[in-house]
Parts: sequence; structure tokens; C-alpha cells
Amino acid sequence: MPTLATTVDGLKLPNPFVIGSGPPGTNLNVITRAFQEGWGAVIAKTISLDSSKVVNVTPRYAKLMAADGKEVIGWENIELISDRPFKIWLEEFKKCKDQFPDRILIASIMEEFRKDAWVEIVERCQDVGVDAFECNFSCPHGLPERKMGAAMGENPDILKEVVGWVMGAAKKPVWAKMTPNVTHIEDPSRAALRAGASGLAAINTIRSVCSVNLDTFRPEPNVEGYTTPGGYSSKAVRPIALRMVMEIAQLIRKEFPGRSLSAIGGVESGNDAAQFILLGGDTVQVCTGVMKFGYEMVKPMCDELLAFMAKHKFETLADFKGKSLDYFTTHADLVRRQTERKAAQKAAATAKVVKSDGEWSGDDFVKQSQALASR
Ligand SMILES: Cc1cc2nc3c(=O)[nH]c(=O)nc-3n(C[C@H](O)[C@H](O)[C@H](O)COP(=O)(O)O)c2cc1C
Repeated sequence: MPTLATTVDGLKLPNPFVIGSGPPGTNLNVITRAFQEGWGAVIAKTISLDSSKVVNVTPRYAKLMAADGKEVIGWENIELISDRPFKIWLEEFKKCKDQFPDRILIASIMEEFRKDAWVEIVERCQDVGVDAFECNFSCPHGLPERKMGAAMGENPDILKEVVGWVMGAAKKPVWAKMTPNVTHIEDPSRAALRAGASGLAAINTIRSVCSVNLDTFRPEPNVEGYTTPGGYSSKAVRPIALRMVMEIAQLIRKEFPGRSLSAIGGVESGNDAAQFILLGGDTVQVCTGVMKFGYEMVKPMCDELLAFMAKHKFETLADFKGKSLDYFTTHADLVRRQTERKAAQKAAATAKVVKSDGEWSGDDFVKQSQALASR
């Protein structure tokens, strides 16, 4: 009987499905619901020490629909981090851990480029009992204007310094959440791991403009007639997320064995999760999926992942984690492999056993002779 239970960075999870930071972990009410439905862990909405600087707008989401006009395939948001006071969050973290002592609650944190701020936010969160941290180095909108979020995550030098501050203060595991809005995600990933991060999480949203209204010429989401580029998520980003998770997993395998990877981007089913685990994910986060299908989606996801494992006789997640990484190579190597296979096929074809004396040919004479030999 396969099991979904897993231990990552010492954190014991009943299954690898983790609520990704965002609206599905935005207050104690919804976090409680997530645990009741059976999610493996919850990463709360990103918090900072001073929420008074966080001012959201409405509307702040825009959707890309499939041709049937019913299915949401892409989702843009221009939502900021939590606008709820830090003090309230600390109270809720504490209550949550009192209510669910055995479940994994992860604080997502973000601060300005000041050591004292990062140290303070880490210390105060761990004092109320959170199990781990995810550092949001990746929000693509709003916060970069204050040199926060993606502005940090895009810059390996800054990232290394900030992760160093966090690791100096943290007594719990720390994941660095990476931005996909860079050319080579390995560069900031390497910087965070060199600075000692226990693991990485990827991807955050992809900088995007969801659509332009052809009557008003206004881009969406339209706020007082204007917009600002936001972050793209949901099923449409999954292929990009799979590629980036694969690249980070290769880096971890080569240079940082033992570090963890939390895979994110467009996960909606157990089979989606299986793909991310095959590419090296230890856990799989879901954010927009919960906004589309509700917290109860975790049950069919667990069932589908278990069915995949049973089909292939995998007992644990470790039995197939990273198994598909071996099937990536360079384009030049693909060409070499294909050329070799075609040559071998041709050789086999030309070595076909002659059935009548008229089929003997001068060019293949030796091969044809051998093909007629008993071994
Ligand atoms: C509305 C919305 C708000 C989000 N807020 C946060 C946030 O506060 N902190 C964070 O790290 N990521 C945030 N994210 C990003 C998600 O956690 C996740 O990285 C991204 O959406 C891709 O995964 P998904 O396709 O499962 O949503 C947000 C995403 C959405 C859609």
C-alpha cells in the first residue's frame, strides 16, 4: 500500500500537497479549513512587519479563459502581500499551532533590505511556534518599487546577503521562494543555497499583462482606467514551472544534494503533482487551483497521486522523486542519439536475410553473409 506521508527538512507532512502563499492562506479561518480538509501543510499569505504600507486595489485579478469560455486557464493578479497587521498574524499563528500542533504551518515573510527587519520578523514568528519559513523573494508587482520581493530575488548578491541574515536568526527550516522573471533561475537559486537556505520553492507568478479590452483599449485588470503588469498563474504557467523546477532540481542534485524543493505552478490534480515530483519536487504547492476548485480538491488529488504510485509500484514519494531528470540532455545529444538510431536501423535493414540469390548485393555482401550465419 503506497503512502503519501513524507518528511522534508525534518517537517512531517501527511501528504505533499501544500497550500501556496496567497488568498487560500490569508487568515486563520481559511487556514483552519485547509487543515480540516487534509492539506499536508499551509504556507500563510506573505506578511511584513508594517502592513500599513500595503494598500490593495479592486479589481485585482484578470482571467484568461479557454476557447469554450468556461475554463480558466490563466490568472493574473496585482494583489500585494497581506494587508493585515503583523500583531494579528502572530496571534493567529499561535492559535493555529495550539489547534493543530501536529500540522505544518509555514510563515511566508518579506521585508525591506534591512538586516534588523528580517531578523525581527523571523524571531517574532518563530516565537509563536511556526514550523518553517518561506521567504518571498519573488512577488513581481507593487513591492519591487520598495526594493522588496522580486527586486531581491532577481539579484543573486542581494539574495545571498538576505538569506544569510535569515539563516543567522532562524531556528526552523527556511525555503527561498524564487521568481521566474529571470533568464537563468539557477543563478539566484545557487545564491540562496550557498547562503544556507534549507530549500527552494518555485515558481512565483510570471510578470504578465492578461488582456486588452478591444472596445475601451484598456488593459485588464482595469483600475480607474489603468493597470500595471501583474503575476500570471494557473494551468497556463505549468509548462514553464516544470522547466524551472527541473533546472533547480538539476542544480540541487549536482551542487547541493539534500536540499529540498517545493514545486509550484498550475497544479490542479494528482497527475500534475506526479510530474513535478518526477522532476525533483519534494512537495507541491497549490494556490490558484484552490481559488478555482476549493479546499476539498486535496482529496481527489491525493487519490490520483496514490493511484499513480500503485500503478507503478512506488511505495513512497522518494521512490520516484527526480526519476525523470535523467531524460534531459542537450539538443546536440538528441541529434547524436537520433543519428545513431537511424544508422543502426539502416544497418539492420541492409542486413536483412537474403531470401533468394537475386537479393545479394555487392555493398552489403559481408553483412548479408553474416546474417545467414547461425550466430
Ligand atoms: C491572488 C494571488 C495572490 C498571491 N499572493 C502571494 C503571496 O502573498 N506570496 C507569495 O509568495 N505568493 C503569492 N502568490 C503566488 C502563488 O503562491 C504561486 O506561487 C503562483 O500563483 C503559482 O502557483 P499556482 O498556479 O498554483 O497559483 C499569489 C498568487 C495569486 C494568484
